[in-house]
Amino acid sequence: MFDTRTLTRFLPPRMRNQLDAYLEIATLFREISDPRVMASLGPSGVRGLILKRGKQGVPTKMGASHEAHFDWGYPSDMPEMHALYTRAKQGQWDSDDLPWYTSVDPLNPERPILPPAFVDFDRMHTEMGVKLNALEQRKFLHSLSSWTLSQFLHGEQGALFAAAQVTESVQFFDGKLYGATQVMDEGRHVEVFHRYLDEKLNRLYHINDNLFVIIDALMTDSRWDMKFLGMQIMVEGLALGAFGAMYRMTKEPLLKELLKRVIQDEARHVHYGVLALREHFAKELSERELHEREDWAFEVALLMRNRFLAYEVYEEWFDGIVPREKWREFADTIPGMKEFRQVMFSRLVPNLREIGLLSPRIIPHYERAGLMKFYNGAAADQVTGEQMILELDRQAAA
Ligand SMILES: [Fe+2]
Ligand SMILES: [Fe+2]
Repeated sequence: MFDTRTLTRFLPPRMRNQLDAYLEIATLFREISDPRVMASLGPSGVRGLILKRGKQGVPTKMGASHEAHFDWGYPSDMPEMHALYTRAKQGQWDSDDLPWYTSVDPLNPERPILPPAFVDFDRMHTEMGVKLNALEQRKFLHSLSSWTLSQFLHGEQGALFAAAQVTESVQFFDGKLYGATQVMDEGRHVEVFHRYLDEKLNRLYHINDNLFVIIDALMTDSRWDMKFLGMQIMVEGLALGAFGAMYRMTKEPLLKELLKRVIQDEARHVHYGVLALREHFAKELSERELHEREDWAFEVALLMRNRFLAYEVYEEWFDGIVPREKWREFADTIPGMKEFRQVMFSRLVPNLREIGLLSPRIIPHYERAGLMKFYNGAAADQVTGEQMILELDRQAAA
């Protein structure tokens, strides 16, 4: 990051914040060294970060350019995928069965959506110069948890459409049948997250610009394996981690139950991504193509690690009071965010290893980003959703 403070000290706060946002985008683009990755992420970056297409309050249209792959022979071509299809049919659940009658008060300190320890309010005081009283702290946590759940919801909308696209374009026939169950799963996830935000939290935040960039890039890429990599491994893998972290932290019973159901579906989705890509990457791609995917995955991982910083919450609470770069430094290191990152990457990195995108040429980059400590974890094809829940319950009880 540039040292914006020396550069912008004498500007009025609003201009200083604007400049800070542009410098952040410039830094992001500067980090991308592979021109093919730039060609894939660049236009989406302009639409998301500069034009802010996700924040205009109107529907967004993204041009799709993939081919639908038909097979009139209906082959049984992947037994492990077929087994997953069977499990997915059996694992369907009715969203109306969740305990929606539960009364949720987001300001109730007995049953917080996110615990106060998620944000270190003492540090907020010392480092940002902002002191919130007890009620304001609860309101701030209400904002932050609604923001987080809103991003889950927007991610689910992306997953719904990406699952539909992948179902069309994938060449494995067993993958198409499985994909149909995922489309249903994602539809249900959109429904439950939206219903929770609408009925229980009465809030909905705009899509975060960085999440928009990733969704835009994978929806508009014509290559099915890039959609897969983007959605099934990166977004779903990270979402699975984030859902897990929230499941572990929340004391609100309806949300806990909702997340438990969603996590079990998502574990199958990531498993599907690992199965399909492991095979495809090993057999179909040239070394050059593999390198492009490796670089792309690394950039997306950085996009999600460094820049998922709740600027929308900052704008609501502190715009004009605290400089944007101060918020960035603070938000980056609050305990809850650290925990989110920890759980997210412990899920993602082993999956990247498993599909062959962690070759020795990229490992030093992950090392520098502090992500190699997750290298030896279990990949999605070795952990079921039930095991994941048991593990989270065990950690929460410890
Ligand atoms: Fe989902
Ligand atoms: Fe999913």
